[in-house]
Amino acid sequence: MTGAASGIGAATASRLRAAGYDVVGVDRAEADVVADLGTPDGRARAVAEAAERCAGTLGGIVTCAGLAGEPRRAGSLLAAVNYFGTVDVLDGLRPHLVPGGAAVAISSNSTTVQPGVPADLVEACLSHDEELSARMADARGAMAAYPATKLAVAHWVRRQATGPEWAGAGLRLNAIAPGMIDTPMITGMRADPEAGPLLDMLPIPVGRPGRPEEIAALVEFLLGPDGAFFCGSVVFCDGGSDALLRTRDWPAAWDISVRDLGQQLS
Ligand SMILES: NC(=O)c1ccc[n+]([C@@H]2O[C@H](COP(=O)([O-])OP(=O)(O)OC[C@H]3O[C@@H](n4cnc5c(N)ncnc54)[C@H](O)[C@@H]3O)[C@@H](O)[C@H]2O)c1
Repeated sequence: MTGAASGIGAATASRLRAAGYDVVGVDRAEADVVADLGTPDGRARAVAEAAERCAGTLGGIVTCAGLAGEPRRAGSLLAAVNYFGTVDVLDGLRPHLVPGGAAVAISSNSTTVQPGVPADLVEACLSHDEELSARMADARGAMAAYPATKLAVAHWVRRQATGPEWAGAGLRLNAIAPGMIDTPMITGMRADPEAGPLLDMLPIPVGRPGRPEEIAALVEFLLGPDGAFFCGSVVFCDGGSDALLRTRDWPAAWDISVRDLGQQLS
C-alpha cells in the first residue's frame, strides 16, 4: 500500500492489519518501504522492494499516496506523484499478484465536481509522457493539475481493468473517488489562504466531511471476496457532493447507433 503513513492510507493499513492482512506500507518516511514515488527511480525501488517482501504472497495493491493541489506547489509534482506514482506502481506490481488478486487506486471526486479540469493534461498523463505532463501541469498550476491527475487515474483504471493484463488474467482493478475526507491533506489545504476558503464552497449533502476509516472500509470490501464482481468501477464515496452537483450527468446514456456499436465491438 502506498501512502500508508498518513490519512486514508494509515486508516486503511490499520483496518487491513486488523482483518489479518500482512500490509507492506510504502511512503516517503515512516513506512516499511521508504521511497519517493515522485521520481522514476523511487517508483522502481518501491516496486522492487515491495515485490521482494511480498514474493509469492501479494494478494492486493492499494495506491493512496498523493499530494493536494496547494496553489504554491508545482503542478509537475502532482503529475509525478498522483498519476505516475499510481500507475507505475500498479503496472510494476501487477505481475507479482497471486491469481485472484485485486488492486484499488484512490482517485477523487474532484474529477467531477471541480470545474475546468484541463483535458490536455489528462491526455498527456494517459499517453504516459511524463515530461509533457510535467510541463503542462506546471503551466496549469497545482490546483487545476489535481483533478486532472485524478481523472487520468480513473480513466487509466477503467481502460486497464477490462483488458488482458487485469480481467483477462483473473485480476481485479477498481478505483475509489473520495470526496472531502478529514485527513492531514485537508488540514494543510485549510491553512492555505487561497485554497482554504474554496473548500467551504463544496456542498456535502450529508453535512460533514468523510472519515478516513469510511474509505478504508470500502478499500477492504473492494479488495476482498465480496468485491469480486467489481471490475473497472470508480466508486464515489463523497457524502453526496457528486450526486448533488452532477445529478443527471450519469449514468450517461450511450449516444451511438446500432451500426456504430457493431463496428466498435468487432
Ligand atoms: N483527503 C481528501 O479529502 C481526499 C479526497 C479525495 C482524494 N484523496 C486522495 O486520497 C489519497 C490519500 O490522501 P490523504 O487525504 O490521506 O492525504 P495525506 O496527506 O494524509 O496522505 C498522503 C500520503 O501520501 C504520501 N506521499 C506524498 N507524496 C509522496 C511521494 N512522493 N512518495 C511517497 N509517498 C508520498 C504522504 O507522505 C502521505 O503519507 C491521496 O491520493 C489523495 O489525493 C483525498
